[in-house]
Amino acid sequence: MKASILVVDDTPENLQLLMGILAEHGYDVRVAPDGELALKFVRTTLPDLILLDIKMPGMDGYQVCKQLKADTPTCDIPIIFLSALDDVFDKVKAFSVGGVDYVTKPFVAEEVVARVQTHLTLKFTKEALKNQNVILEEKVRERTQELALTQEVTIQTLASLAETRDNETGGHIRRTQNYVKILAEQLKTHEKFCNFLDNSTIELLFRSAPLHDIGKVGVPDRILLKPGKLTDEEFEEMKKHVIYGYNAFLKAGEYFQGTSFLHFAREIASTHHEKWDGSGYLQGLKDEEIPISGRIMALADVYDALISKRVYKHPFPHTKAVVIIIEGKGKHFDPDIVDAFLELEEEFRQIALRYADYEEERKALCE
Ligand code: C2E
Ligand code: SIN
Ligand code: SIN
Ligand code: FE
Ligand code: FE
Repeated sequence: MKASILVVDDTPENLQLLMGILAEHGYDVRVAPDGELALKFVRTTLPDLILLDIKMPGMDGYQVCKQLKADTPTCDIPIIFLSALDDVFDKVKAFSVGGVDYVTKPFVAEEVVARVQTHLTLKFTKEALKNQNVILEEKVRERTQELALTQEVTIQTLASLAETRDNETGGHIRRTQNYVKILAEQLKTHEKFCNFLDNSTIELLFRSAPLHDIGKVGVPDRILLKPGKLTDEEFEEMKKHVIYGYNAFLKAGEYFQGTSFLHFAREIASTHHEKWDGSGYLQGLKDEEIPISGRIMALADVYDALISKRVYKHPFPHTKAVVIIIEGKGKHFDPDIVDAFLELEEEFRQIALRYADYEEERKALCE
């Protein structure tokens, strides 16, 4: 496509001369005899470059230039000033109002063409760069989405692997991650938790929560799937799911140094069975020693275990689960997190209903 150039000059001979030079070099040339008409013209057709006379009746070239630079559609058009050699010509002013160059009359064809060509090339290069950046940004966005999706799928796959062995279905994953999210949202305005719970942390907790029991893949079937109560010895074996989970994320962490997702996944896997009074496992941490992620997960996990059908238990009604959690306030659970739960109790029930796996669970939730 031909580059288009607007020549603005009040002297017809100059217009004719420049038109001849430029047309000969293959440019699409338009002309305007004064500033007002030039501004009117660019409102309908944007030229690639403007040659602008300075001394004109009515608006002078500086004023026209200022106007063009002030309007978004025209501000990127390069403007080359035309000036008579004997004019008192203020070069500083020409550049300060936004001109990119000037040529002096009488015109030398080669000079005019060379300057026009230089500024067109500059302009087209800038535009190409800008487009390239837009394309690159779009690509980065696509890749980032793709990566996030890959991570999401990997997490779901891993989590369902653990759940399948546990004879649970996908509901547990969805339920617990949603309980964790609403608890965290509720607690983020609490003075004790607000420093820790910002939106990105809540998102990470939401995504890592489904992996809290991933270590159960290391527990033998005869224990994990035992229909009845576990012996002490079997329960000791069961407790190891916490270590298995911790180690799995520790290994992964060697490859992904400093990823906060792995950090939270590991923290949750290793501390979700700690209890506020120090009687939990694995380390017997107590109160504030237990990471907030583990404290939130503990409540979400137990609520879900209570309302769920397990090989070893029937689903409890929602009301019974609430009573058990209240009994655990300050013993099993952080009292502030229990208070948050009590505010959200009905929302817990709704999440449980939405993602219930069995009719038996649905019935119990509605009792
Ligand atoms: P889980 O089934 O996901 O249960 C998670 C937590 O919910 C339990 O952690 C416990 O704190 C709470 N919980 C579950 N059922 C009840 C209940 O009936 N009453 C009360 N008050 N709390 C309950 P815990 O005890 O450390 O158990 C960890 C995991 O060990 C359980 O995960 C489950 O996979 C297994 N487990 C625990 N008890 C038994 C059992 O009697 N038989 C079998 N087969 N597995 C068990
Ligand atoms: C020319 O013919 O030199 C102008 C074409 C252009 O710069 O794109
Ligand atoms: C990791 O878990 O690999 C890094 C720990 C962190 O993000 O603080
Ligand atoms: Fe667990
Ligand atoms: Fe669990």
